[in-house]
Amino acid sequence: MHVSLGAQPFCLPLPVLLVGTYDASGRANLATAVYGGICSLQPPSFCVSMSRGSWTHRSIAERGAFSVGLPSRSMAAQADFAGLVSGRQEDKFAALGLTPAAGRHVDAPYAAECPVVLELALTHTRELGSHTLFVGEIMDLKVEREALREDGMPDPARLDILAYAPMAGEYLAMGGFVARAHAVGKTARRNRPEK
Ligand SMILES: Cc1cc2nc3c(=O)[nH]c(=O)nc-3n(C[C@H](O)[C@H](O)[C@H](O)COP(=O)(O)O)c2cc1C
Repeated sequence: MHVSLGAQPFCLPLPVLLVGTYDASGRANLATAVYGGICSLQPPSFCVSMSRGSWTHRSIAERGAFSVGLPSRSMAAQADFAGLVSGRQEDKFAALGLTPAAGRHVDAPYAAECPVVLELALTHTRELGSHTLFVGEIMDLKVEREALREDGMPDPARLDILAYAPMAGEYLAMGGFVARAHAVGKTARRNRPEK
């Protein structure tokens, strides 16, 4: 039996994203977003939805570029701060002691402390209502060397990235391995396959 909670924007878990931009004066800024994710395989694309009042909104539109860093569990307080304070008033990199690294492929900075970073070139901007959807083509993915498996793939367990639970308003860590994707489904059928 389900209980209806009305028209709520809900999904669980949401990745915590640190959106990196340069403002018009060239100052590096970071803002927390949880409305976003992968949105196309080819071209590889990632989107974030930013409210019009944010400094980041203005900077993405002006510069046509942004980065997305995935913070680790140990960065929860820094990620929360980046979502409480605006770059309009304060240099969040300096306040948090984070290192602004310049993107190599796009005109946007990222926090060098994030274990995963995407560099994004803005391709689409869509007004949705309270938020503007910014879609960026992924120009590069960077992953901390220590978090790569022997086959060169990112190891989710070693990345230990931060997630967010909306409505509860809680930061979460990821759980462990459950099953192999594109494989375990082959064992799930309960009836005979149709001929
Ligand atoms: C957990 C969390 C998630 C957030 N998610 C979003 C989001 O998806 N989109 C958005 O526009 N603002 C989001 N915010 C609010 C912005 O991070 C906040 O307005 C911030 O001050 C914007 O910084 P800026 O003005 O430097 O861009 C979130 C804040 C927190 C704490």
